[in-house]
Amino acid sequence: ASILVLNGPNLNLLGTREPDVYGAATLDGIIHTLTEQAVAAGHHLQALQSNAEYELIDRIHDASRQGIDYILFNPAAFTHTSVALRDALLAVNIPFIEIHLSNIHQREPFRHHSYFSDIAEGVICGLGAMGYELALNAAIDRLNR
Ligand code: DQA
Repeated sequence: ASILVLNGPNLNLLGTREPDVYGAATLDGIIHTLTEQAVAAGHHLQALQSNAEYELIDRIHDASRQGIDYILFNPAAFTHTSVALRDALLAVNIPFIEIHLSNIHQREPFRHHSYFSDIAEGVICGLGAMGYELALNAAIDRLNR
């Protein structure tokens, strides 16, 4: 099956960005680990990070045309703002897991609400880079059912 990993704004800076909040792992490192994990399980993984909302929306539309089976998504700051990305995921109806490195419920009140959690299959937050691996594990488990 084909799995798409999407990452929103500022996540290209992982490793140097507020490491006390987001950890030391770089996005390249995370994607590398996930790719190995997916391939070992006989699946195919693609990834996009973008700082632009429309690029993420367009990628979600393309995912539908391409037959992507599952999405892992860290919408970053768009988590708390983007009705447009929510609507894109509803439009394509591809199952997805929402991921956050930090525990958004432990942070500022404006981070407590997500436009994605109620339409996600599951949500993982607060476990750092390991959250991506746990999400991929869950996605693979569901795809193999
Ligand atoms: C984040 C949490 C968001 O509130 C924040 O805007 C991010 C990253 C996380 O992974 O913890 O950019 O999604």
